Amino acid sequence: MKPDRDAPIGVFDSGVGGLTVAREIMRNLPSEKIVYFGDTARVPYGAKSRENIIRYSKQIIHFLMEQQVKAIVIACNTASAFALDEVRDEFEIPIIGVIEPGARVAAEETKNKRVGVIGTVGTIDSGIHASYLKKLDPDITVIGKACPLFVPLVEEGWLHDPVTMEVTARYLQEFKDKNVDTLILGCTHYPLIRSTIREFMGEEVRLVNPAYETALDLKALLQKKDLVSAGQEQEEFPYRFYVSDLADKFKAFAGSILPYDVETTKKIDIEKY
Ligand code: DGL
Repeated sequence: MKPDRDAPIGVFDSGVGGLTVAREIMRNLPSEKIVYFGDTARVPYGAKSRENIIRYSKQIIHFLMEQQVKAIVIACNTASAFALDEVRDEFEIPIIGVIEPGARVAAEETKNKRVGVIGTVGTIDSGIHASYLKKLDPDITVIGKACPLFVPLVEEGWLHDPVTMEVTARYLQEFKDKNVDTLILGCTHYPLIRSTIREFMGEEVRLVNPAYETALDLKALLQKKDLVSAGQEQEEFPYRFYVSDLADKFKAFAGSILPYDVETTKKIDIEKY
């Protein structure tokens, strides 16, 4: 049976970071509904094993499919790095991740062919950005660095804070020393501290936030599969949010990222799936 064009898009992340992707989908595909899941009970994903991330991703996809979504965006680099190929093989529903879109833009934008990537330990150790970038242009040198303190700083809401600036300087000095001209924000939490990263790296370094390109890829995918919503059945508030823990904390944070008050955030038991 063909999926309903007016069905929602499923978007998931380990926590609040994927909201940076949801925000771009809301801006660029305003007639689409969204069901967002943040795995707040099991965040962070960045230091967990591949097999756990695959298991979590499959559980979440089962949950989202129960919500009758028509396509899924893995709005988490770590889950995209570890689980995208596996879940694409297992599920028939169209699924996209955030890594390929970011790598594509970086390959287009770099002039000196020195690209930096920051992300979680899992994402950086997987080497996945480098393998996409090298396929696009074998002459590109890729310098990756895990920045594990960024996620807790973001989750704590310390977006503009001297401590965050100090940590940024410690992590990113290497990219200045190695003269990268393009830096991929390879974790969906990082766009939330973009201004601090920008301040440290300076205006001349191109910061790539893959969220925007991911939204455009989603648009192209929906067009290709004939799944674009006609928009007539739009509800007053077409976005639903689910988490695996601490719904109130998520709700407050989401309200500060999205241009809406997130009225309803529901906690569900993801281990059931
Ligand atoms: N936002 C996630 C990502 O893009 C990871 C944060 C975490 O470690 O859970 O990789």
